[in-house]
Amino acid sequence: MDSIKINNKKFVKFLSNKEIQIKVSEIAKKIDEDFKDKNPVILVVLTGSIFFATDLLKDISYDCNIQLISAKSYGDKMESSGKVKIDKHNLNIRDRNVLIIEDIVDTGITLNSILNNLRKMKPLSIKTATLLSKPSKRIVTVDVEYTGFEISDKFVVGYGMDYAEYGRNLQDIYVLEDSNE
Ligand code: IMP
Ligand code: MG
Repeated sequence: MDSIKINNKKFVKFLSNKEIQIKVSEIAKKIDEDFKDKNPVILVVLTGSIFFATDLLKDISYDCNIQLISAKSYGDKMESSGKVKIDKHNLNIRDRNVLIIEDIVDTGITLNSILNNLRKMKPLSIKTATLLSKPSKRIVTVDVEYTGFEISDKFVVGYGMDYAEYGRNLQDIYVLEDSNE
């Protein structure tokens, strides 16, 4: 499929699953090396990063602890609401080295809010990996140690990411057609 429609909006193919897989393997290799002796907690941020996390984790060669948190900010809009709802389930990261797995860092508000929350739980260290980043949209400065693709101000769906909860299951990533280049 070269294009799809969600809620009457046209999205065109932007990154193929093959391109994504190559990038994910590169990131996984670095993480595999960097966290070798660190017994990390891999913290998957639901829901958008499920595909990224699953593919990445397949390339980690040692045992690691996987935990989940939920973060919601967008609702049905394409702009961040600025308010983040975080659900930490039974998160336990005290004295652990944490690696956060995010789908996309846009304004940075979500990641910043996650980081502030996690720091209170006294982990040894926290690092972040994101598949996509939109540096031009950043409102809050956040450190991201591993980034797959830097993209311009484009709204994307697929590979876990949604528009109004649709499009997550697409294996490629699509971009809204009239997004600015
Ligand atoms: P931020 O708080 O503005 O950095 O937004 C981060 C969250 O918004 C991400 O974790 C995504 O879930 C969602 N998001 C940001 N940009 C997009 C996009 O282009 N498509 C789908 N979801 C997005
Ligand atoms: Mg997300």
